[in-house]
Amino acid sequence: MIHRPRRLRATPAMRALARETGYRPGNLILPMFVREGITEPAPIQSMPGVVQHTMDSLVDAAREAVAAGVGGLMIFGVPEQRDAVGSAGTDPNGILNRAIARLRAEIGDSAVIIADLCLDEFTDHGHCGVLDDHGRVDNDATLEIYQEMAVRQAEAGAHMLGLSGMMDGQVAACRAALDTAGHTDVAILAYSAKYASAFYGPFREAVDSQLSGDRRTYQMDVANRREGVREAELDIAEGADVVMVKPASSYLDVLADVCAISPVPVAAYQVSGEYSMVEAAAERGWIDRDRVIDEMVTGIARAGATMICTYWAAELAHKAAHAAG
Ligand code: PBG
Repeated sequence: MIHRPRRLRATPAMRALARETGYRPGNLILPMFVREGITEPAPIQSMPGVVQHTMDSLVDAAREAVAAGVGGLMIFGVPEQRDAVGSAGTDPNGILNRAIARLRAEIGDSAVIIADLCLDEFTDHGHCGVLDDHGRVDNDATLEIYQEMAVRQAEAGAHMLGLSGMMDGQVAACRAALDTAGHTDVAILAYSAKYASAFYGPFREAVDSQLSGDRRTYQMDVANRREGVREAELDIAEGADVVMVKPASSYLDVLADVCAISPVPVAAYQVSGEYSMVEAAAERGWIDRDRVIDEMVTGIARAGATMICTYWAAELAHKAAHAAG
């Protein structure tokens, strides 16, 4: 026998030497929720270990994540008041903008502060955009609000904006608004291939979503692979600094396709349902939690993602720091 691939698997050192991919804490992004009007962090039932933060606990958790080496913090706001046009999202005193400003003041440039730019947390109907007279999500009217949100989030101190609404033309619209307002250095992370996924289930509890129905008129059909590449190409042409595929594990083909064509870094978002399924199975003793988490995140990195958005970011960074000694 000439070929014995097992030779390179014989010892831990041999396997370490032959290891092709992996993830570094600096490439991990931690999604975090901050809720207006609470005085204690509120656990999210369907996401054991994840909470809705108060402003103060957000800062503490952010500091801890940054100390462990997490590269980015993705912030979602949960407002007390909602309306049809999501006014709390454009209000400089809205919960998300206040949290961004506070975080920037506290942690400075030690991690990339990413503001979620979408209306769903702020609208009383729960859609990612405003509705027209027929109750349909109005793409172009929504873009105008996104532009205002973008400028407010940049003024608050966000380093990067996470455009998660899946409106056509959102990257170009926000880029133009940012540049006109002088925020040429604020980066755009585009949720380019964002699928209409059932894996977002627990997130709806996390942001107290008011949505009834679904987002199928703007988020992508789960069966479409080619379209994921098209969406990424459009966002790159519109000036996206980073393109993202979401969810992650069930879309590794799309992720690999986008990685193959993208001249800009590619991110993947391991979403709430991916997190909760692992935690739930682990709680029952059905899987080896830590190994499953590592395997899933490694799989996302192996498919080509440079940045990985995961609710385990701080934990994984802590472990990596520990392993490095
Ligand atoms: C909406 C948004 C969603 C998530 C991130 N941003 C939910 C949705 O599109 O319905 C989901 C994230 C997760 O499930 O972890 N702006």
